[in-house]
Amino acid sequence: MRKCVLVSGGAGFIGSHVTVELIEAGYDVIVADNLSNCDMTCFEGVKKITGKDDIPFFKMDFCDPVATELLFTTHQIDAVIHFSGFKAVGESVAEPLKYYRNNLESFINVIESARCHGCENILFSSSATVYGIPEKLPVTEETPRQSATSPYGNTKQMCEDILRDSVKAYPEIKGIALRYFNPIGAHPSALIGELPNGIPNNLVPFITQTAIGRRECLSVFGDDYPTPDGTCQRDFIDIVDLAKAHVFAVRRMLDGKMKKEYEIYNIGTGKPLSVMELIVGFEKANNLKLNYKFAPRREGDVPAIWADPTLANKELGWKAERKTEDTLAAAWAWEKHLAEDSRSSRE
Ligand code: UD1
Repeated sequence: MRKCVLVSGGAGFIGSHVTVELIEAGYDVIVADNLSNCDMTCFEGVKKITGKDDIPFFKMDFCDPVATELLFTTHQIDAVIHFSGFKAVGESVAEPLKYYRNNLESFINVIESARCHGCENILFSSSATVYGIPEKLPVTEETPRQSATSPYGNTKQMCEDILRDSVKAYPEIKGIALRYFNPIGAHPSALIGELPNGIPNNLVPFITQTAIGRRECLSVFGDDYPTPDGTCQRDFIDIVDLAKAHVFAVRRMLDGKMKKEYEIYNIGTGKPLSVMELIVGFEKANNLKLNYKFAPRREGDVPAIWADPTLANKELGWKAERKTEDTLAAAWAWEKHLAEDSRSSRE
C-alpha cells in the first residue's frame, strides 16, 4: 500500500521541494501550512512540476492542538516531516517568546497527535546552527552542540531534545533529525524556490535580488575572518539534493531500517565554499557581474562551518550530487521567473 507522508510547513522553501521529491518517489503527500511566512506560489509550482492537481492542502496552524488532532484523526499518516517553524535569527532575538511558543508548541502538538494516532515516524528539520562555533572542522554528528546564540537556534536544539526524549519514552514512535547546512538554489524547473519576505537575510536571495536590480548592492559581511580569503566559509547544499535526503530518511524509517529509535544526520556537501567564492561562482554560472562591497562583520556569524556528511552517505545512502554552478544557475532562473511573473501580473 502507498505510504502517506504529512509535510508540515510544506508550502515553504524546503517543504515544497521535499513535497516534489516525495511525490516523485511514489509517496502520497499531505501538505499543511499556515502561510504565515509564504503564499501559495510554491504549492502551485509543486502541482505543476508533479502534474498532480489533487495534492491535499490544509491551511492550518500546528500550534492549534485541536486542528492538529483533527488532521491526524481524519487521515492515515505514516510519517510526518516537521518544517513548521519561524527561522529568522535576528527576529528571534527581538521576539523570543514568539519563537519559543511557535516552534516548540507546534512540534509538541505534532508529536503528541502522531503517537496517539499510529503515525510512528517523525522527521525533524534541524540545522547546523546547533553546532554554534565548532572547535573542529568539519563537524560530525558527534561534534558537541554549543550553547545556542539565538532563540531560533535554541528552538532547534530544544526540538531535537523533545524528539529524543519522546522517542525514548514512547516506544510507538521513532525520530530522525536532519541537520541542514546552508540550503540554496531552486528547482531546475524554476517553478519553486526561495521567497523571502522583505529584505532577505540569507546570502543567495540577496545575491539574486541584487542581480535583478531589486537591491542596489550586496554587502559582504566581513573580509577579515581567519579563512583563506577572509570571508566566511559555509557548506552550501543544493535544495534539491537536500530535499532528496528526506526521501532517503523517510524510506529508512518506513522500511524499519533504523538502528536506533533516534538518529541524527548532517545534510551537507562536505565541501566549504567562502562567501566570495560563491559570489564569483554566481557571476560565472550566469555570466554577469554583481554589485557588491565589503562591509563590517555581521554579529553572530560563525567564521567557518561545514559538514562531514559521511554518516548520511553511509547510512541513508544519500549524497549531494548537484554542481554548484547548476545550483546558482537555478537560483538565478527562479529570480527571473519571479520577475516575469510580477511583470505579467501588473500587465
Ligand atoms: C543562517 C542560519 C542557519 C540557517 C541558514 C539558512 C544561524 C547562525 N544561521 O545561516 O541556521 O539554516 O541561515 O536559512 O542560525 N552574508 C553576506 N551578505 C548578506 C547575507 C549573508 O555576506 O547579505 C554572509 C553571512 O555573513 C554568512 C554567509 O553569507 O557568512 C551565509 O549567511 P546566511 O545565508 O545568512 O546563512 P547563515 O548565517 O550561515
